[in-house]
Amino acid sequence: MRMSRRVEHLPPYLFVEITKKIAEKKAKGEDVVSFAIGDPDIPTPPHIIDRLCQAAQDPVNHRYPETEGLPELRQAIAEWYKRRFDVSLDADKEVLPLIGAKEGIAHIALCFIDPGDTALVPDPAYPVYSAGTRFAGGRPYYLPLVEENGFLPDLDTIPDYILRQAKLLWINYPNNPTGAVADLDFFNKVVKFAQQHNLVVCHDGPYSEVAFDDYQPVSFMQADGAKEIGVEFHSLSKSYNMTGWRIGMVVGNAAMVDALKRIKSNLDSGIPQAIQYAAIEALTSSQECIQEHNNIYQRRRDLVIDMLHSVGLEAETPKAGLYIWAKVPKGYTSVDFATDLLDKVGVVVTPGVGYGKNGEGYIRLSLTIPDAGLVKGLSRLAVWRSSKSGLKIE
Ligand SMILES: Cc1ncc(COP(=O)(O)O)c(C=O)c1O
Repeated sequence: MRMSRRVEHLPPYLFVEITKKIAEKKAKGEDVVSFAIGDPDIPTPPHIIDRLCQAAQDPVNHRYPETEGLPELRQAIAEWYKRRFDVSLDADKEVLPLIGAKEGIAHIALCFIDPGDTALVPDPAYPVYSAGTRFAGGRPYYLPLVEENGFLPDLDTIPDYILRQAKLLWINYPNNPTGAVADLDFFNKVVKFAQQHNLVVCHDGPYSEVAFDDYQPVSFMQADGAKEIGVEFHSLSKSYNMTGWRIGMVVGNAAMVDALKRIKSNLDSGIPQAIQYAAIEALTSSQECIQEHNNIYQRRRDLVIDMLHSVGLEAETPKAGLYIWAKVPKGYTSVDFATDLLDKVGVVVTPGVGYGKNGEGYIRLSLTIPDAGLVKGLSRLAVWRSSKSGLKIE
């Protein structure tokens, strides 16, 4: 069998490897606590599931859905953006439901990237921005996200020759994996920069509803002129604990949304309609569940930060998102440290280098772990620390 070079050169998706490692440990009877994957452990709220079950009983919803999604869903998304961000969207032209944001993020490269083209991709980052670019035959040019710049890309340092080749800029705030947030000034700067250099911007914002201490993340679509040059990907996965149902959306520039719709109409057959009705319920009913979930994540965030600090690991307290980005002890790489934690105390964390070269020196811990596991995992970190009494952390 002769595979394509695309498949032959494809590194395994980060979490496939981690899931495999956890399964191997469990098969040996070892008890593993995982802080690895950002998949909410809290169930989808019952009113959303009730609507899904009801819609699943209706034979109308047993047939092929339309690529562009139900008009009622597009309308619900537009109204949610108006209520939440005061952003006006044309539900027919500027909104497209997706089979989860990941799907749209991967496919939009096919709309803008021809073989040999360049996309500007943050590093570290959610791996799909560069995977999508490569599948389209393009090349990612990495923009380092470093602590000194608040994990925002320094657009002014991108060389001119790269800017002449680049067609698309990816950004993502609240950020995975660093936990950083961006304000409207930054988004306004991105819009100006994109206009100046003839770029399209794809902002990925699935964590905008997971926020703490009364902080409210902004939308890229609130920036002046954002709709002229860009789109925003969003998702119901993290806001409503709906990762398993696979539903998200892209909103913004009508030509960009239309291009993605044309690609998708050739590749998939839309989102199961019962799931679309569940999404309408999520977006249009009481939003109280979001605050309830955030209270849980905030408590966990504080527990994790306290424990990391008490074992001598440096980590900023994030204002939003599901992740803690912690520095590894001196003398370790991120893979060495993650391996040590797994081997010595059965705790799984994600090595930062898995998100790009600038993730080296960090590990990512997810807050999507039930309280009992969280407490067990944190006490194991203390055990790990006491086993290293001679270790100088910084
Ligand atoms: C930054 C980022 N974008 C997109 C996604 C994918 O979201 P969805 O579940 O809607 O595909 C994730 C999931 O972890 C993510 O971290």
